Amino acid sequence: MTAQLIDGNALSKQLRTDVSARVTALKARGITPGLAVILVGDNPASQVYVRNKVKACEDTGMHSVLETWPVTMTEAELLARVDAMNRDPSIHGILVQLPLPAHMNAQRVIEAISPEKDVDGFHIASAGALMTGLPGFWPCTPYGCMKMLESIGYELKGKHAVVIGRSNIVGKPMAMMLLQQNATVTICHSATKDLKAMTLQADVIVAAVGKRNVLTADMVKPGAVVLDVGMNRNDEGKLCGDVDFASVKEVAGWITPVPGGVGPMTITMLMVNTLESAERRAA
Ligand code: GUN
Repeated sequence: MTAQLIDGNALSKQLRTDVSARVTALKARGITPGLAVILVGDNPASQVYVRNKVKACEDTGMHSVLETWPVTMTEAELLARVDAMNRDPSIHGILVQLPLPAHMNAQRVIEAISPEKDVDGFHIASAGALMTGLPGFWPCTPYGCMKMLESIGYELKGKHAVVIGRSNIVGKPMAMMLLQQNATVTICHSATKDLKAMTLQADVIVAAVGKRNVLTADMVKPGAVVLDVGMNRNDEGKLCGDVDFASVKEVAGWITPVPGGVGPMTITMLMVNTLESAERRAA
């Protein structure tokens, strides 16, 4: 059996067309959705990510501000920039790129962002809203995964979903979103005793560890849906996910590739969140 691909580029394109149309409608009412992106330091991967985020704003007709600061910036200086963005009416979303330099307390910086502009969905108010089912911003990567499941018409009710990884950015919010759709959810992590025994029971597997080949074909139930959140490099320096794609695609029913899977969806959902923030302000 060969799995069907869930194409993150194609789905992103479709969703971004809808975003662009809604941006145009909002602009006609005199409001241009605006995203502020703050990068501290010179992490090369982060530089690529923020550039892609700013480009996505341009492509969808949104306003964007990119601030890059040297690694010597103090936390107090960064908090002052966040405060300025909180008050700026042309800004509807604020994103502080992670990781921050070691001398900063990332959680303190995130909590300084106004929850109304927390388009990353990392603020404790956003996390609390997701957990309780109240309206708020959902973290972009797991939100993108949910859109991918929706795009194939997948009914989660009563299914067993196994999430590998328990980060605040992906694993934990992913589990909450799956639970909200009435899946039975298992969260696996580095201390899980028998990962394979868990994944073999799964109808849906989300791999979000940040390590190559965490999921191999022998760990997947035939026909399962496999979403790969990993962004790793193989020995040749090529981008690869957490899933052993070549073997797993022979067993799974659906699978996301890397690149061209969850990655583009993350940025697309950032556009959706920023647009929705502007729409809420306009309402
Ligand atoms: N670093 C890696 N992924 C992300 C993300 O989605 N948002 C932010 N702010 N930083 C990141």
